[in-house]
Amino acid sequence: MKNNISAILIIDYGSQYTQLIARRIRELEVFCLVHPYHKITDNLLKEINPEALIISGGPKSVLDRNSPKLNNNILSINKPILAICYGMQLITKNLKGKVNRSNKKEYGHTIIRIKKKSKIFKGINTNKLRVWMSHGDNINKIPKDFVTSSISQNNIIASIEDIKKQIYCLQFHPEVYHTDNGNKIIHNFIFNIANIKTKFKINKFIENKVKELKHILKDKKIICGLSGGVDSTVTAYLINKAVNKNLFCIFVDHGLLRKNEANEVSKIFKKKFGKNFIKIEASDIFLKRLKNISDPEKKRKIIGKTFIEVFESEAKRISNVQYLGQGTLYPDIIESIPFFGGPTAKIKSHHNVGGLPKKMKLKLIEPLRELFKDEVRIVGKQLNIQNKLLSRHPFPGPGLAIRIPGSIDKEKISILQEADSIFINFLKEKNLYDSIWQAFVVLLPIKSVGVMGDKRTYNYTISLRAITSVDGMTADFYMFNNDQLKEISSRIINNVPGINRVLYDFTSKPPGTIEWE
Ligand code: XMP
Repeated sequence: MKNNISAILIIDYGSQYTQLIARRIRELEVFCLVHPYHKITDNLLKEINPEALIISGGPKSVLDRNSPKLNNNILSINKPILAICYGMQLITKNLKGKVNRSNKKEYGHTIIRIKKKSKIFKGINTNKLRVWMSHGDNINKIPKDFVTSSISQNNIIASIEDIKKQIYCLQFHPEVYHTDNGNKIIHNFIFNIANIKTKFKINKFIENKVKELKHILKDKKIICGLSGGVDSTVTAYLINKAVNKNLFCIFVDHGLLRKNEANEVSKIFKKKFGKNFIKIEASDIFLKRLKNISDPEKKRKIIGKTFIEVFESEAKRISNVQYLGQGTLYPDIIESIPFFGGPTAKIKSHHNVGGLPKKMKLKLIEPLRELFKDEVRIVGKQLNIQNKLLSRHPFPGPGLAIRIPGSIDKEKISILQEADSIFINFLKEKNLYDSIWQAFVVLLPIKSVGVMGDKRTYNYTISLRAITSVDGMTADFYMFNNDQLKEISSRIINNVPGINRVLYDFTSKPPGTIEWE
């Protein structure tokens, strides 16, 4: 649903940077959608009616026989196109230019020389640009009616354009932070070439969403899984605005929450939703089903399935419930779509998307499925949700289950809860909590020898994780100073029996992910 605002359609060929393209466009307050190349049909194009298209990069080579192809309907709808890397090579091949396999790959920072005045480079006051390249093939002969607008220092064609058809192709990646003026290039495409006029405003989003929810739900009952996290809280407040007394919020204590979380969250929501807030204590069934399960994807699937079962049985008790509201966000949707039919590009199945059983009896409502995390916080603010709730660090649906690599038991959960609580309280006490996007403790399946007092210990090792990020798609590890690390470590070891070693995780995303599982 795009509520009659201009949409950019990003056609994804499996690039690791596709989400970044979407981010850059959202930062310009322009609505965009990402769809994998093999899902592009005439009907979808009609439904989205995009103002412009962006064709992403991808890991394959257009010279391979089975490489992903360009749908001809993409060219025939006559909309401005920005084609990046693999996208550029696809366009070239389709329009009878020539693509070659290079002897030398261009990877990383490369200087390009702008050869001609172009709308795509408007406002860039230099003809030498440092850009990010990541390709093996290159353009050997440009298609008819195209001109070359820039060349790389290795004499490789870096950009071409057909201004009449409004097709702009870039061999480099304007969406990555390492490309100088990358944002300007995307801005030029959106506003000077595609001439997008309507901006995607959050208050309009709320107004339209409430209208849409009222229309769909009418006087039907809906239940909503409330975890106390930002996504589910904003989802519940938004649905509540549309249907009020027909919303029933269910908080499932799966036994994998942070210390005291169940009570704190219950208190806040009882106040807001009154009798329509229902707390279910279900830790026994979750822990029983997770017993001896080590595989992270299996854990997620079990938790997702059990969640839905618990919801469904509660829904039956409320009677006549037809809908289930969930706080799925756009990155969850994109990250759960497998490419090339195989599991390789699928990173994690986030449980609220990937783990849904096929025969779900409730219809799903996901009002935030088009938004990124930072946008959800803005929606929350506009819905007057208290800052205390909105500024909470994200917490994954499967909870501590994915912060205990390997098998899970009650003892491990309780050790982890204690350590995590000390870490988070330290951050709050030192006013660091709000400058860190997410922080937590991971309990490793490793015991090591230590000495405390005069006694030998043989206890668990934990790793601290603290990252900065905008939306969780990329992240940098947070740099504590020595004194801070020393203090956290000693507070944990001195206060949590069962832990005798503390590590710090110095991994950014990519190459790591934020969670360990
Ligand atoms: P990763 O580990 O994928 O995490 O870099 C990105 C963000 O997503 C959260 N996360 C999850 N959230 N179900 C959720 O609801 C999940 O299975 C899940 N796995 C990761 C993670 O905490 C971080 O904020």
